Amino acid sequence: MAKKIIAAAYGDPTEVLEVADVRVPTPGRDQVVVQVRAAGLNPFDVKVVSGVMGRNSDKLPISPGAEAAGVVHAAGTDSGFVAGDEVVVYPATAALAEYVLSPAANVHFKPAGLGFAEAASLLLAGVTAVDTLATLRVSSDDVVLVHGGAGAVGSIVVTEALAAGATVIATASPRNHEHLRELGAIPVAYGVGLAAAIDEARGEQRITAVVDTVGTDEAIDVSLELVAPHRIVSIAAWGRVDDGIVIVDGSSEQSRHHRREAVEPLLADAAAGRIGVEIARTFSFDDAGEAFTELAGSHPRGKLVFEPK
Ligand SMILES: NC(=O)c1ccc[n+]([C@@H]2O[C@H](COP(=O)([O-])OP(=O)(O)OC[C@H]3O[C@@H](n4cnc5c(N)ncnc54)[C@H](OP(=O)(O)O)[C@@H]3O)[C@@H](O)[C@H]2O)c1
Repeated sequence: MAKKIIAAAYGDPTEVLEVADVRVPTPGRDQVVVQVRAAGLNPFDVKVVSGVMGRNSDKLPISPGAEAAGVVHAAGTDSGFVAGDEVVVYPATAALAEYVLSPAANVHFKPAGLGFAEAASLLLAGVTAVDTLATLRVSSDDVVLVHGGAGAVGSIVVTEALAAGATVIATASPRNHEHLRELGAIPVAYGVGLAAAIDEARGEQRITAVVDTVGTDEAIDVSLELVAPHRIVSIAAWGRVDDGIVIVDGSSEQSRHHRREAVEPLLADAAAGRIGVEIARTFSFDDAGEAFTELAGSHPRGKLVFEPK
């Protein structure tokens, strides 16, 4: 038997998350069973468990965990993997567990130079970041405003936009401004005075594209004063679609294509140190509820990582 985290009801993660005993899965011909060394926690997991994404009792119990890294435990004959391979699973389901079952198509070889925790925390945020910039076709001609530039997605947006040669202005709490400067971006504080702070940061330059990872009305309103709606790509402002901004979430064929193509370059860039993945805290079966609660609030920079112990 093996352990995995489930939520038998929607609600406060500290109340609804529990540890279930399940059988170790057996892979089909094109499936892989991975012994999880680390699984990245994402706001998506928190939103699903808390019921923000909707409450449908037919979907209970929920098994959170959308990305993992580990060692192949058993592999189907047509999978292309063998026991002992070090891999990353993305997209994954039920990854907050000792073992995760996945179609081979979602399993990727982990570069040797990349740790399990970092590998497990890279791809969901990374493919999303690449998708935003590919949708905007950001190039060295652009001056990009990134809302939430120190977040998991935002940090990779900033890094990739700078790598494309763009100038980057990014919003964050003052505690994260030095981090943004180190990446090469111009930091500005969100909140009161945001529009004036952006004006000062851009000087004579014109903002040409916006990536919003936050979804607040403040972020969208200030952006609409700077660029046309189709130059604003958001991953979170679902309530502002009527303004003509572009939401990307992996549901369109173009978005899926961007995300598929991004996986291998992201793994290579992270292994080479061109993309940094910071780990803020690890958690396990005992303190999963606290980790979910921490991610839902104003949390320190870096990823929260599950390690089965
Ligand atoms: N559509 C998609 O495909 C997709 C994919 C991935 C994630 N998402 C969504 O995107 C969002 C970000 O995900 P993430 O993993 O990057 O989260 P994260 O690591 O928790 O980062 C959130 C960022 O938001 C910033 N922030 C918080 N309140 C803010 C405010 N009022 N104004 C401006 N910035 C604020 C924080 O900045 P400071 O810490 O500097 O204050 C932090 O850097 C989540 O809502 C997530 O569900 C969507």
